[in-house]
Amino acid sequence: MTTQSAHRLAGRRILLGISAGIAAYKSAQLARLLKQSGCEVRVVMTEGAQAFITPLTLQALTGEPVRTSLLDPEAEAGMGHIELARWAETILIAPATADLMARLAQGMADDLLTTLCLASDAEKMMAPAMNQAMWRHVATQRNVERLAQDGWRLLGPASGDQACGDVGPGRMLEPEAIMAELILPNREIAHGQAALGGEMPARGLHVVITAGPTREPLDPVRYLSNHSSGKMGFALAAAAAELGARVSLISGPVILPTPAGVERTDVETARQMHEASRLLAADCDIFIGCAAVADYRAEAVAEHKIKKTEGEEALSLRLIKNPDIIADIAKLRDTSGGRPLVVGFAAETRELETYARDKLERKRLDMIVANDVSTAGLGFGADDNAALLLWRDGEGEGGASLPPQPKSELARAVIERALGCLTSRPVH
Ligand code: PMT
Repeated sequence: MTTQSAHRLAGRRILLGISAGIAAYKSAQLARLLKQSGCEVRVVMTEGAQAFITPLTLQALTGEPVRTSLLDPEAEAGMGHIELARWAETILIAPATADLMARLAQGMADDLLTTLCLASDAEKMMAPAMNQAMWRHVATQRNVERLAQDGWRLLGPASGDQACGDVGPGRMLEPEAIMAELILPNREIAHGQAALGGEMPARGLHVVITAGPTREPLDPVRYLSNHSSGKMGFALAAAAAELGARVSLISGPVILPTPAGVERTDVETARQMHEASRLLAADCDIFIGCAAVADYRAEAVAEHKIKKTEGEEALSLRLIKNPDIIADIAKLRDTSGGRPLVVGFAAETRELETYARDKLERKRLDMIVANDVSTAGLGFGADDNAALLLWRDGEGEGGASLPPQPKSELARAVIERALGCLTSRPVH
């Protein structure tokens, strides 16, 4: 976060709620960052949270007494809970456990934190943190929907290794990412949330998107890769989330923040991206392959750094083919009752339409987004892009040319077209 954006938080009255997750240790860093940004911070901890981090730590970091109980006459004599509810401009709960989310979704007020949430008109945000199976559970997803409808903004969760040994969505966003989300205007909202009166045509759908490059190691210090920045794929993820979808973003190595409400899985190689895609696409409605996947990898990765050999002017590397991720997902579609709709990209430097049509056919895609990556200021690394969309759906074949525009706008058009294809495709 830049100093300028941190200043936008100065003086903001933030009530930081902490519930009982292992991620509670990160809340100390979050409290510190909030204070550094000039926020006024009051901390409320649930009973269970105190098993993970002590109120004393938070008190030392914020310089304010930490509230832990609704029925505490001494604390109530200071700032009563209703006063505290009125004081807060923002209620930020991090971590928010599955249990706390369930209680809030039900409108319960059985401890201080839930009571404050009911009693306060403040802007409300939470950073969920739980085991991946708990996050995916239909009951939790139902609560996510309900909380979003009630005006909660969900920050994350992120995806990756979990404390319990599982891998998947449910990790609390890092404190720095939560800080970045805090300064976003309300329109940048998480999946399933009513977009301030906007339409949510993707509500209830699961969209999986690959983004960025892959890295194929040659030795411990070198790799083969390409210039993809991830911007196009991340813009697609943000657009799908804004339209109400649950979004799983599988990203190669990029330096971009995760869009609000998007579950992110980080990978390095094409084979890792392939594995994550197969796992997540198993229950998705739309799969979009925007990643620039390396077609080849080194047949053998050297255990030690490859050395220059005196007298030899050339070095030969033997490369072998990587799996074609999107073609495999399209095959999966053929065996699982017509799901998902598969959207590919084609990065071309000549004969855009010819090569794109060939990929549409050969990889058995429903739609392809063809971009000319030889045009300066568009495609790889740029903020803008232009594309030719080709598709076939229940109404036959179609096409549209999208002129140069910001990737965020192009992404929205692509998602809307994919939703159109999904609606009109024949039922299998
Ligand atoms: O990331 P940015 O800097 O914003 O740039 C965006 C972009 C130019 C990378 C993006 O718009 C784009 O064109 N992505 C696809 C790049 C690519 O690898 O295209 P391709 O024509 O080589 O591949 C065709 C399709 O097959 C793509 O959907 C690709 O994800 C997929 N593929 C390719 C190889 C492979 N082994 N597995 C795949 O799934």
